[in-house]
Amino acid sequence: MSSRTIQVSPFDLVVFGGTGDLAARKLLPALFQRDRAGQLPSNGRIIGVSRRTLGDDGYLGFVRQSLKDHVKAADLEPEALERFLGRIHFCSVDVTGEAGWPELAALLASGVEFVRAFYFAVSPDLFAPISQRIKQFGLVTPHSRVVVEKPLGKDGESAREVNAAVACVFEESQVFRIDHYLGKETVQNLMALRFANRMFEPLWNSTHIDHIQITVAEDIGVGDRGGYYDTSGAVRDMVQNHILQLLCLIAMEPPDAFQADSVRDEKLKVLKALKRINERNAEHCTVRGQYRSGSVGGLPAPGYLEDIGKDESDTETFVAIRAEIANWRWAGVPFFLRTGKRLGGRTSEIVVNFRPISHSIFDHTAGRISQNRLVIRLQPDEGMTLEVMIKDPGPGGMRLRSIPLDMSFAETFGVSNPDAYERLLMDVIRGNQTLFMRHDEVAAAWRWVDPILAAWNNTAQRIHHYAAGTWGPSASVALIERDGRTWLEDSE
Ligand code: BG6
Repeated sequence: MSSRTIQVSPFDLVVFGGTGDLAARKLLPALFQRDRAGQLPSNGRIIGVSRRTLGDDGYLGFVRQSLKDHVKAADLEPEALERFLGRIHFCSVDVTGEAGWPELAALLASGVEFVRAFYFAVSPDLFAPISQRIKQFGLVTPHSRVVVEKPLGKDGESAREVNAAVACVFEESQVFRIDHYLGKETVQNLMALRFANRMFEPLWNSTHIDHIQITVAEDIGVGDRGGYYDTSGAVRDMVQNHILQLLCLIAMEPPDAFQADSVRDEKLKVLKALKRINERNAEHCTVRGQYRSGSVGGLPAPGYLEDIGKDESDTETFVAIRAEIANWRWAGVPFFLRTGKRLGGRTSEIVVNFRPISHSIFDHTAGRISQNRLVIRLQPDEGMTLEVMIKDPGPGGMRLRSIPLDMSFAETFGVSNPDAYERLLMDVIRGNQTLFMRHDEVAAAWRWVDPILAAWNNTAQRIHHYAAGTWGPSASVALIERDGRTWLEDSE
């Protein structure tokens, strides 16, 4: 099965942090794949910017190595590789000083009519100085846009500052705030599932849905990001952005059109309707955890403190939250959110649990009637499963059982899904903001998250330890079982 590829307009993509980890692991491989697919026009340039003095040749070496490390060897066809390398330029720039900016301006001067995208793959404290220099050197054209990566602040206040720094130079319509979860194929499919099918939407409410679980589980630890992670924790790193975005797409009202502001208006309403969790109820609605040593995939795995090289830390590497949305559609339906590092596997999924049937016509010999369940798998095997009751085949009478109607995207379409960055980078060049967060969404997400963090701090809420390779602390199981429900893996 093939997908259509429409070339994007001529562009200059300027990557600040061009020699950084994000560029190496995600941006360059994604751009290479889009080039391979024929989506980049001949006059599309990628300009790496960094403080390092590499020169074009040195940077080409960096790009080659990044592709070698992060692209399947079979995809690195020599012709495609040479074409891609032909797009690469490098500028050594002191982003907080003056050096290098005139050279960058001279390079960009030959593409004034092109789409010009500035990608800030750098620490947020550099957003303000870089934006100011971009303005000072007159680099903003009518076709310019800026892409910013999380963390967008570490609370509402600092997020406002980050936003204001960028807003001094760019209009909101030029700002692309990346949440890479929105570029994942299954996440986009959530919108297709809900709004391109007749059968789900009438059931998508508290009358028919019992509860929803959103789990983003990772088996990796914090790796070499301990310095950042220890000042962040699971709530800032995953819940404020990725998990709340998933929640919004699951819970939002149908937008009037699949267009940036229509979708973002509806997501914002969900964030605003989230019931506050604060000192009064944090203990009841949240569980914080931190991994200790254990074993992952049969191999011994160190604990968090060893990973970050400290004797103590109060940072959560796991969180479970019982959230509620106070609106007409969702009143009374709990949303159980959970994420953590060094868990029992890398599985991210959304589980929509429907209510029991209202009356059974079958007697006890038919067996138990399970509740329907829709499982939307984000990773690793993207797809969805709808669990329905059927009659067990054979002449043995009416015996019922639950079976999964299972669809794996990879099997159905015969292709593996592109990395989220491929889609998102092309949307930046196309100027389509639908899958990017608007400033008021980011602010609303912090307004919900800040009181949780404050409550933990003020009440010194206990951190529960869990062994690496398990599904988090037992308190997380207790959190959901108090409500008479169970996490998906415990119910199978
Ligand atoms: C990032 C977090 O935003 O998402 C990381 O900072 C996390 O801590 C990553 O590992 C998970 O992304 P994915 O696409 O691998 O699920």
